[in-house]
Amino acid sequence: MLGRTPGSIEAIRPMKDGVIADFKITKKCCSILFVRFYALAFFHQALKYLFVYLAVQLKLSVVLLKKVLLVQGARDVYLIEESMAAALGAGMAIEEASWAMVIDIGGGTTEIAIMSLNGIVYSDSLRIGGDVFDDTIVKFIRREHAIIIGYSTAEKIKEEARSAFKSSAVKEMQFRGRDVAKGIPVSFNITNTEILQILKEPLKIIIGSIKTALEKIPPKLSSDIAENGLVLTGGGALLDGINKLISQETNLPVRIADDPLTCVARGGGIALNMISQHNIGFLAAE
Ligand SMILES: Nc1ncnc2c1ncn2[C@@H]1O[C@H](COP(=O)(O)OP(=O)(O)OP(=O)(O)O)[C@@H](O)[C@H]1O
Ligand SMILES: [Mg+2]
Repeated sequence: MLGRTPGSIEAIRPMKDGVIADFKITKKCCSILFVRFYALAFFHQALKYLFVYLAVQLKLSVVLLKKVLLVQGARDVYLIEESMAAALGAGMAIEEASWAMVIDIGGGTTEIAIMSLNGIVYSDSLRIGGDVFDDTIVKFIRREHAIIIGYSTAEKIKEEARSAFKSSAVKEMQFRGRDVAKGIPVSFNITNTEILQILKEPLKIIIGSIKTALEKIPPKLSSDIAENGLVLTGGGALLDGINKLISQETNLPVRIADDPLTCVARGGGIALNMISQHNIGFLAAE
């Protein structure tokens, strides 16, 4: 309903840009989800197997979130870095001594991490992700076309645009919005090259941080990364051509993980199964 609500209803995102923006509503959301989880687990007589798994970004304060979970009845809370979960879910061999790099482009943040021997040796977190891409598109359409679009249209544009890498074929697409001056619905056309221009700025920042990461590692270990390549996870990895763009800018092979949207969730499942081995990078839940 974001961007489409009538005056009497307000649509908000309690978790936005990678942080809890509204504690009260986040708590409410968690409790609704928990009730559903419990009911489902009870129904399937699987209560004792019920795990709640949450991935967090490295620089986020998790104390608040942990409190929410414990208040809602979680028996235990395990913490894992989102990048670590992403790498596990992407099937990367992070337990090996060679270095590997994962870039998780989510909705709120982009996490860049280099790991080796089940640990993170370098990490960076940027407040740039799908939300910023959407925001940039909304502002551009308003400025250049004098048309207001909602975030759902921005997402559609992003997903359909074949946009991160310059392709030879120019494709024009039609979308609908609301005319700024007249307030009436209008349709407008936008090309893939236009989208490429719009997203250039946020993508440049992501690529800049990847380059910084590569500069900071010891030269003799860069050969590991060059050999293993970079792995992209998160919804942003689905931006068409983003792998080609990053590969061109870094001169390294770039692989998009299978089903990048679910890497972190699947990686968490893998990590939970590895708890008994005590060698996985769970953070201390102090
Ligand atoms: N085909 C696609 N092309 C481009 N972007 C996409 C595509 N599909 C999903 N996305 C974007 O991916 C983002 C969601 O990705 P993901 O689920 O990895 O984020 P998240 O884990 O919820 O966020 P964060 O990691 O920042 O907490 C959204 O911004 C969504 O618009
Ligand atoms: Mg994520």
